Amino acid sequence: MLEIKDSVGVITGGGGGIGLSLAKHWVKNGGKVVIADVAEKFLETAEAELREMGGEVVSVVCNVTDEDDCGRLADTAIEKFGQINMVAPFAGIIKDGMMLSPDRKTGKVTRKMALGDFQMVIDINLTGVFLTVRECAERMINNNCKGLICLISSTGSLGTAGQINYSSTKAAMSVMPKVITAEFFRRGLADRIRCVAVAPGYVGTPMVKKVMNQKALDKVLAQVPIGRLVEPEEVASLVGDIYRNEALAGDVFFIHGGLRLGAKG
Ligand SMILES: NC(=O)c1ccc[n+]([C@@H]2O[C@H](COP(=O)([O-])OP(=O)(O)OC[C@H]3O[C@@H](n4cnc5c(N)ncnc54)[C@H](O)[C@@H]3O)[C@@H](O)[C@H]2O)c1
Repeated sequence: MLEIKDSVGVITGGGGGIGLSLAKHWVKNGGKVVIADVAEKFLETAEAELREMGGEVVSVVCNVTDEDDCGRLADTAIEKFGQINMVAPFAGIIKDGMMLSPDRKTGKVTRKMALGDFQMVIDINLTGVFLTVRECAERMINNNCKGLICLISSTGSLGTAGQINYSSTKAAMSVMPKVITAEFFRRGLADRIRCVAVAPGYVGTPMVKKVMNQKALDKVLAQVPIGRLVEPEEVASLVGDIYRNEALAGDVFFIHGGLRLGAKG
């Protein structure tokens, strides 16, 4: 079993939502964190909150779609703390919409998802994760670090209407742990650096609360046996448990309060 105490977590999307909850969980358990976010203001507030908790924290303004930013992020973690033990590339966005919207009366398509709305989600949720993981894992290997790469998928990985962009990126998050674990296994690294994904259902963060109106939220909650949104702290706690348990590798761990996946993604 690994201990969070004194370990170093690199968390993108650390300025808010699940990323910030994970940073707090890490600090509460004696870990150190490097939080990264494109939103400077969120990042400042997050850093102040973590410091108030007594945490050792460094914040890095970083756009995960930028290769140099991701390299700088990984370098900062090594320079400040000498190691990286947990990588959580949690920066992500949604830009929902139907791929094609035919008019109900005429049956003819009147609207399409814009290429920009598709591409932006791919760039941040998929390419951004690739860059973050590649750069951090390189430093982990070269500095003999032990730990976990924890990606974030979603129940949307199973396919949700109106999310062709988002669901596609989250399906990719479900397969990446297998690819990365297999590659590390080939090179004799898989016992030292594990890779998994957590796949939450609907979590009570700004991503959900800001975008969904009460009616849409009620409709979603009707499909959730526990009758509420998953708390970001519950996702953070799951990541901590997976970090500690070294038998967990190469797989996806769902956390959705029993969401009826067959009926609703
Ligand atoms: N909230 C949910 O219900 C839910 C469910 C499943 C998976 N997830 C995933 O969890 C992750 C975090 O989501 P959240 O709900 O906390 O969202 P959130 O919007 O609260 O936080 C996302 C953070 O990512 C940052 N970010 C966005 N683009 C960035 C970029 N290019 N570079 C760096 N940072 C960037 C934002 O500024 C924000 O602070 C996402 O990957 C999301 O897809 C969320």
